[in-house]
Amino acid sequence: MTSAEIRQSFLDFFKSKQHAIVPSSSLMPTAPNLLFTNAGMNQFVPYFLGDQTAPWKRVADTQKCIRAGGKHNDLEDVGFDTYHHTMFEMLGNWSFGDYFKRESLTWGWELLTKVWGIPPKRLFATVYSPDKAKGDPSDFDQEAYDIWAKIFKDAGLDPAVHIVNGNKKDNFWMMGDTGPCGPCSEIHFNLLESDDEAAGRANVNSSSPRCIEIWNHVFIQFNANADGTFAPLAAKHVDTGMGFERVAGIHATTNGFRDFAAEPSNYNADVFKPTFDKLTELSGKIYTKSVPTKRDSLTAQEQIDIAFRVLADHARCVSCAIADGILPGNEGRNYVIRRILRRAIMYGQKNLGLKTGDFASLVAPVIESLGNVFPELKTQRVMVEKAIRAEEESFGSTLGRGLDLFWQGATLLERAEVDTGPSIQVGRTYVEIGEAIMRDGKLVRIISGEFAFLLSDTYGFPLDMTQVLAVERGIEVDAKGFERFMEEQRNRGRAARKTDVIVASTEGEAVAAATKFVGYQIDATHATHSKLVDVVKTEKDAYLVFDQTPFYAEMGGQVGDTGHALINGAKVDILDTIKDKSGRHLH
Ligand code: SER
Repeated sequence: MTSAEIRQSFLDFFKSKQHAIVPSSSLMPTAPNLLFTNAGMNQFVPYFLGDQTAPWKRVADTQKCIRAGGKHNDLEDVGFDTYHHTMFEMLGNWSFGDYFKRESLTWGWELLTKVWGIPPKRLFATVYSPDKAKGDPSDFDQEAYDIWAKIFKDAGLDPAVHIVNGNKKDNFWMMGDTGPCGPCSEIHFNLLESDDEAAGRANVNSSSPRCIEIWNHVFIQFNANADGTFAPLAAKHVDTGMGFERVAGIHATTNGFRDFAAEPSNYNADVFKPTFDKLTELSGKIYTKSVPTKRDSLTAQEQIDIAFRVLADHARCVSCAIADGILPGNEGRNYVIRRILRRAIMYGQKNLGLKTGDFASLVAPVIESLGNVFPELKTQRVMVEKAIRAEEESFGSTLGRGLDLFWQGATLLERAEVDTGPSIQVGRTYVEIGEAIMRDGKLVRIISGEFAFLLSDTYGFPLDMTQVLAVERGIEVDAKGFERFMEEQRNRGRAARKTDVIVASTEGEAVAAATKFVGYQIDATHATHSKLVDVVKTEKDAYLVFDQTPFYAEMGGQVGDTGHALINGAKVDILDTIKDKSGRHLH
């Protein structure tokens, strides 16, 4: 089967079990507690909670998911292993108050072993077993255990070998800190050359690339509240998710689940081939599938192979995110996309010698492999290419100089004696690069927050990119120190913006009347009716001036009030309140 045939076969199987096949939802999440859509079930949350009635009892789909920030974050592993991605497709099937554990697990077994022909001996199931000492919720999942025990027995296998218990960390699935959740049962695939069952079992949940989880069956029974409690839901639901690239990669590596001699890799799946071919064409370099066993002292070929994987992964992630309207930017999810994009540009230039515009040219092979499944990639192609190209141009102009500075700094730091900290001249000032210290009898070199901040502020290096570069040289980064510098910069920015608006306000209204402050006279709702008398605009912000206000303005070390105003029925958030020289409150 090709990757496309595997995907289709999953959907056809569930169609034959009366599931409606629905499209993937956008990567822009609807739930407020998520950075990105991170699981197939996200779009169905209102049905699980009973807030809305599902139009179907059973559905299946393939869902674009990003796990790069928030509760589920795989970014650090991408490129360094062969089975984690920033963006991946999750094949899933759902029951909304309809079938439950028996059907879910039995059909799962049927698809894997009967339809796809995976050798049963190589499959292991995990079952929820709470660690009560740690306060894990709910009880041992006897029902799932019994269903699995029968399945394995019927297949002539020993349940005691093929069922593995797991506590909340591995077998209780939550979308975020709040929301629908429940015990889960994962199916793990032994990819060792030998199908020895004891060895397979020993590798379950051990982070071995030779035994990986391929399918999670979650039994949604609770809603996690913000206070850490779990409330039972009115109905019980099924939410399963299969790692599409994992299954496609295993299928490609093992000649259709038959030959387990070779090292498995998601990147062997044909869904990555157009991008890998393009990377070879652009760089003149060859991908050899090497996977490093450590993060520093990498060989030249290991660096090339990591970069192939990183770029192929990141090109898909960034293309799909932008096609769904999440553009690179400076805040929140937009900043995550910018970081991923810059990381890809950096790896492309440093490890593969790519030039500006090369990364944007990976959009075409991404569309070639995914455009039929996610048609928005085709319709948004021009916008996606433009946004990537713009970032390559703006970041590309500082990346080379930033890398030079980083390498100079790292080399000086490597030469530093214990308990010394070299500095480097930047313009007219000296910046402390970091220090070399002894920790637990080992020499440790740490890049200072100041140097990391310089790389970020002047050269656009996100902190995690500096960390990636540092790790390659066996150096740490003072992330807390970096945050202190960032916070100082934010404070300077806030102060400058206030000066701007006060100047703008005073210039515009030389004879303006002071705002009447009614904050001490109003009732417990803290609301008042006021007339909007002026709007003061600066480049970045707009400030509202009312004839009277209950909002206290920043003064004498006390911060300004925050809240909201209703203007002709529209809600406007007020993020700060300050006062100008005429005594007008600027909201
Ligand atoms: N929500 C579960 C997961 O993401 C199953 O789909 O693993």
